[in-house]
Amino acid sequence: MQTKLTSILQEAKDQLAAATTPAETEEVRVRLLGKKGQLTEILRSMGSLDPEERKVLGQVANSVRSQIESLLEDKFTQVKNAEKDARFRAERIDVTEPGKQRPLGTKHPISITIDEISRVFMSMGYSIAEGPEIETVYFNFDALNAAPNHPSRDMTDTFYIDDEILLRTQTSPVQARTLLKQKPPIKIISPGRCFRVDTPDATHSPMFHQVEGLLVDEGVSMTDLKGTLDSFAKQLFGSDVKTNFRPHFFPFTEPSAEMDVSCFKCGGKGCRVCKGSGWIEILGCGMVHPHVLEVGGIDTEKYTGFAFGMGVERIAMLKYGVDDIRLFYENDMRFIEQFK
Ligand code: DAH
Repeated sequence: MQTKLTSILQEAKDQLAAATTPAETEEVRVRLLGKKGQLTEILRSMGSLDPEERKVLGQVANSVRSQIESLLEDKFTQVKNAEKDARFRAERIDVTEPGKQRPLGTKHPISITIDEISRVFMSMGYSIAEGPEIETVYFNFDALNAAPNHPSRDMTDTFYIDDEILLRTQTSPVQARTLLKQKPPIKIISPGRCFRVDTPDATHSPMFHQVEGLLVDEGVSMTDLKGTLDSFAKQLFGSDVKTNFRPHFFPFTEPSAEMDVSCFKCGGKGCRVCKGSGWIEILGCGMVHPHVLEVGGIDTEKYTGFAFGMGVERIAMLKYGVDDIRLFYENDMRFIEQFK
């Protein structure tokens, strides 16, 4: 048994010398000192020896065990350090290596235009309201006084999801939603995406953007509407532009108008941008129809309001001289980067 103990010690030395990782070292430990380890078995079998023999061998066995334990401890320290060193070496950062260029993106011209429009109205005290792009037929049409036979309600003009739900054709439903949610004075704009069944060409896209506006308070009149939108046009296109209001029809306003700005390109003399007329149409507007206010639970004896809506793509095309609406949606960086 003594020789066996000596050979176990030698084995431990050989095996530990060969081990290079903590896992391999652990295997050696289990093989010798584990529950079924070689030394453990010997120690366990000692109970059957006679007391004299047990005393002598017990001492040897304990000494072998403590030697192995200390060998194991040294080996664990060594292989763990080696492992750490290797990891540090592998993870070392070369601080002299040139940095990676991360190209910065740019704002999309439609976002830039929405920001510019919003900034003007926010400076006049308007806040931003939002509404869903997937809208109910009720808010998109009925609440806005659109007659059941209104042509824009047609299947061929509007993307219906089912009989009651559609992709909103305009941002105007946000008017109705805001009237239900807020009490006068109300002063909001609402930029967002709209959808209409249209074959894409240079000036049409089935998806486009609008900015809606709504103001409701006591004593609001058409002069407030004209003053506000004239000031907006001057801030957006330049202080020289003039505005002109032409009568028009919208179901949710009465009276309704379209606003033209004098051509900021030629100053009104007539050019390619204004198609020779000297004027450019940029938005629809009007005094909010009493039916719309009533749907929103507003006291029409006390309150009046005006509303307006403009196409963002159209304004961006005019401002930046873009001649094809489809360019906005191709995400060609050579185009988008020009608006930095
Ligand atoms: N929603 C109208 C459209 O898409 C634009 C519009 C016109 C909005 C007049 C308004 C308004 O708020 O008062 O053609």
